Amino acid sequence: MPADTYVGAIDQGTTGTRFMVFDHGGQVVANAYEKHEQIYPEPGWVEHDPVEIWENTKTVISRALREGGLDPDQLEGLGITNQRETTLIWDAESGEPIHNALVWQDRRTTDRVEELQDADKVEWIREKTGLEADAYFSATKAEWLLDNADPIKLQRARPADVRERAEAGELRMGTIDTWLIHKLTGNHITDVTNASRTMLYNIHDMAWDAELLEEFGVPESLLPEVRPSSDDDYYGTTDPDGFLESAVPVAGALGDQQAALFGQTCFDEGDAKNTYGTGSFFLMNTGSEAVSSDHGLLTTVGFQRSGEPVQYALEGAIFITGAAIEWLEDVDLIEDAAETAELARSVDSTDGVYVVPAFTGLGAPHWDGRARGTIVGITRGTRREHVVRATLESIAYQTRDVAEAMEADSGIEMSSLRVDGGAVKNNFLCQLQSDIIRTDIVRPQVDETTALGSAYAAGLAVGYWETVDELRNNWQVDREFTPEMAADDADAKYDRWGDAVERSLDWARD
Ligand code: G3P
Repeated sequence: MPADTYVGAIDQGTTGTRFMVFDHGGQVVANAYEKHEQIYPEPGWVEHDPVEIWENTKTVISRALREGGLDPDQLEGLGITNQRETTLIWDAESGEPIHNALVWQDRRTTDRVEELQDADKVEWIREKTGLEADAYFSATKAEWLLDNADPIKLQRARPADVRERAEAGELRMGTIDTWLIHKLTGNHITDVTNASRTMLYNIHDMAWDAELLEEFGVPESLLPEVRPSSDDDYYGTTDPDGFLESAVPVAGALGDQQAALFGQTCFDEGDAKNTYGTGSFFLMNTGSEAVSSDHGLLTTVGFQRSGEPVQYALEGAIFITGAAIEWLEDVDLIEDAAETAELARSVDSTDGVYVVPAFTGLGAPHWDGRARGTIVGITRGTRREHVVRATLESIAYQTRDVAEAMEADSGIEMSSLRVDGGAVKNNFLCQLQSDIIRTDIVRPQVDETTALGSAYAAGLAVGYWETVDELRNNWQVDREFTPEMAADDADAKYDRWGDAVERSLDWARD
């Protein structure tokens, strides 16, 4: 093994794939990124091509190593982190997907979820999985693929009934971690965090749930083996005759939000982080207890290390935050996300305008798949600066919605919140967030905590890092934001936000 060794992390997100290499101090030594196509076959449907994702994964790994002047043998381990819930099925023999992956944002199974609601199955599902019955999760997507992939002949399917082939054990299902582990090692494996997002996995028994499999018609032979997020036995090793030309252990995997929790070193009960990406995902470690929510949060698996108990988390999943800024670009209100801070600062307030970016329904704490985006309070004097500012404010208000639910469920009053993700580079947003939730906002130096978290998981498994204290020592503050706005002002603005949300709820119901 060469003197300088590292750990690599594949971060397969909703919009693109990143490969990062980290050193012992948790610093980035190589980095490459590639976007992939977003496929919208019908309104509300979102798909990704799994083959493109795999090709991009190989490209970014090779490019990062080449540009960083690194040899694959210098990688002691590989971790994977991924967009969660996104689901695909492939042929066990050929490895070919039978259909594009259905992305977490895809709403095509909303009717099926309403059937579950009408049949009073919501509580039953929540008790087993910790999840709110919603099209967001994998179960109804897998069911849809089994029922529809072959007939609509989208691509690649052999002309035989998909369900029949699934029952005969000829197909494999997985989330994106499972797909990449399969491509890298040939094994059919997922980790506990990704399993916990399928709505097929019982988070108390820590096993696939036979009753849920029956409800959604998913044969168990289709499903991967579930392993710890940091696995001393490794998921497998890369093929020395494959693209990497080296046998590197693949030893860590976490869904991207759990990876950010791990990368932010939120190892103890009560530690919390919020990641601002396409959406925002606010997770609090609740230790070895699966705390159930009375306020619209999800109970989910936070992480598990080999031989250690599962750590659970409460999660506030907000579907649209960064994507609302992208929408401002799409409609030509801004040219670039970077100008939002300046535009927002150029006015004192939104002048009474509220933007509720419920583009794909509302997630936590409302869970209304029929909610739609709303702008209220527009007057003749409303300018784009007000709309831009209101869009940034919507990110802060949605976060307060879930922060309040989190405090109510956990009984823990937060004194500070660790943040990460693309949007936290925006100082205006960080200050606004602190003002609106009345809590210190702490931004770490390494803001790629998602990739870092999966590198940590893999690095602990292969012994690159020995203890989590080493990881805690790597975590350094970049900047802290403390509330400046008067509490009464923040509360008044937030109350009005609640009125705006009411206008967007239930909008698309017939
Ligand atoms: O649950 C969806 C989440 O994992 C997606 O994260 O960062 O890929 O948008 P991101």
